[in-house]
Amino acid sequence: MKSRPFYFGTNTKMYKTSSQTEAFVRELVDLTSDIDREKNPLFVIPSLTTIENARKSVPSEKLKIGAQNIHWEEEGQYTGEVSINMLTDINTDLVMVAHSERRQLFGETDFSANKKILTTLKHGLIALYCVGETAQQKDFAVTAEVLKTQLKVGLNGVALSDLSRLWIAYEPVWAIGVGGKPADKELVDRSHLIIRETLLELFGETGKQIPVLYGGSVNLENSREYATLNSVDGLFIGRSAWEAKNFSRIIHEISQLRESIL
Ligand code: PGA
Repeated sequence: MKSRPFYFGTNTKMYKTSSQTEAFVRELVDLTSDIDREKNPLFVIPSLTTIENARKSVPSEKLKIGAQNIHWEEEGQYTGEVSINMLTDINTDLVMVAHSERRQLFGETDFSANKKILTTLKHGLIALYCVGETAQQKDFAVTAEVLKTQLKVGLNGVALSDLSRLWIAYEPVWAIGVGGKPADKELVDRSHLIIRETLLELFGETGKQIPVLYGGSVNLENSREYATLNSVDGLFIGRSAWEAKNFSRIIHEISQLRESIL
């Protein structure tokens, strides 16, 4: 049986300029020329102003380039926003929706995420939907309820025929970014199983094809633990992936490790 692809991606947040992003994606593609993209798809989600140049700098088959956010309308009186038409025009491959920083700092909700996901899928792009509980929700033991709600609201109305372009990232809010606390692999496994159960409930057997990636303080040391869980289909990395050499090292180590155990 063909094993499932294992994804590696990074969101560079509000860090790299266009020239820095170009240098990063070029170096990353260079360093990973031996990686089989069928088995290990790679993606980078840089800032909006850097997408066009990044997309032109490296081929899409080698590296998917994504946007960190969109507006759900195709056009309109929404000063300061960016539409899906603007992203397809510059050949963006995917849109990340509801990253925890968007939820926490910019008031993004499961309902706005839903509109953005539907727009993204309608226009033929991949939607990467981020879910995860806060520290307080974890302490109150409502992680399962939170994840289920995020998925049921965020994915409301998604057609089965679009599921091949839907990816999920589980990122516990307390595990992300500077000051984040890496999660135990048992907790990651439990949450991924809840997500899988919910996707099955929502979409039946077709829901099984949706990749569920893990993110939150992933680094070279802890990536092995997460990547060997059956429930994890990829790693979504921040800080530890922003140097192409470090990211490439994680990609190589993990793809070899998975090759040796599968
Ligand atoms: P981190 O970021 O790996 O730096 O914790 C993860 C994320 O925000 O997606």
